[in-house]
Amino acid sequence: MELFRKKTVEMIEDDTREGQPHSLKKALNWFDLMLLGIGGIIGTGIFVITGVAAAKYAGPALIVSFVISGIASAFTALSYAEFASSFPISGSTYSYSYLALGEIVAWVIGWDLILEYAFALPAIALGWSGYFTALLHSLGINVPAQIANSSFAAAGGIINIPAMGIILLLTWLVYLGIRESATFNNIAVIFKVSVILFFIAVAVWHIKPVNWHPFMPYGWHGVMSGAAIIFFAYIGFDAVSTAAEESKNPARDMPIGIIGSLAVSSILYIAVVVILTGIIPYKLLNDPAPVAKGLEYIGMSFGAGLVSIGALVGITTVLLVMLYGQVRIFFAMSRDGLLPPFFFKATSKT
Ligand code: ALA
Repeated sequence: MELFRKKTVEMIEDDTREGQPHSLKKALNWFDLMLLGIGGIIGTGIFVITGVAAAKYAGPALIVSFVISGIASAFTALSYAEFASSFPISGSTYSYSYLALGEIVAWVIGWDLILEYAFALPAIALGWSGYFTALLHSLGINVPAQIANSSFAAAGGIINIPAMGIILLLTWLVYLGIRESATFNNIAVIFKVSVILFFIAVAVWHIKPVNWHPFMPYGWHGVMSGAAIIFFAYIGFDAVSTAAEESKNPARDMPIGIIGSLAVSSILYIAVVVILTGIIPYKLLNDPAPVAKGLEYIGMSFGAGLVSIGALVGITTVLLVMLYGQVRIFFAMSRDGLLPPFFFKATSKT
């Protein structure tokens, strides 16, 4: 029975009361939470995967795929919002399963989350490294392939210093504390959303409806495959729930943060895909930087460079938010005694 013992709401209140030795500072308002969500959501999904998904799976009907995935995400977001506002504790689904189902289930879910982040972070850091070295290359700086690829990724590769470097840098930022991380995230998110709005504003005038024909070249099967692939683009709002314990007013602000960030991102995504498939034939979108490619196609190379910087910044905040989520899962599990106590040392400064 020990394995199935549950946490109670009183235990959570005790753990999370501010001033307790192992509680976290309540420093985030609804705006920070919403930008944390947008920081985690908008990244490689829209800036990288859209291209392959349109060219190989859904065609212009990728617009429909985005709507379908968005609806699925909305249901998930509602569940997260319900839990995060009712039980404002660090640890997200790990902590919710501790409350509802007991310790052994929580332990499994906790390790699932650790695995999720442990696989996602390096994969996204590799994408970041690719964008970063390409950007340096366009400025005339060539990073030797041996130190920008691991031996698994490319023949002759030794170590991927940019990928490891960005993870170390963001680890340091997360270590400094939530206020520093949130401030950096807010600035970076405002920049990346501005880049997307810039794309929308300049590209919308170049839509040629003929590019939307045939609309569904791969049929419904393609649309659904596209929806499955593009679901990745929506992941990230879940990390907002790991911030519940640091929210000033979780009952009101968690739903705004989770649902608001998903709503804003969905609207931006759908607008980008409508426009992108309208300005360039979908078959040409099979490119690792499809949004920049679209701008180049309509003769706006300057915009393409800006979009590449926006993508790099966007992917950086996805990494930051995931790293932040990872650390909070470690924190919550460690506070419950399911990981070594080292992971829940929090001071007023770091
Ligand atoms: N939603 C995140 C991205 O698209 C994971 O990069």
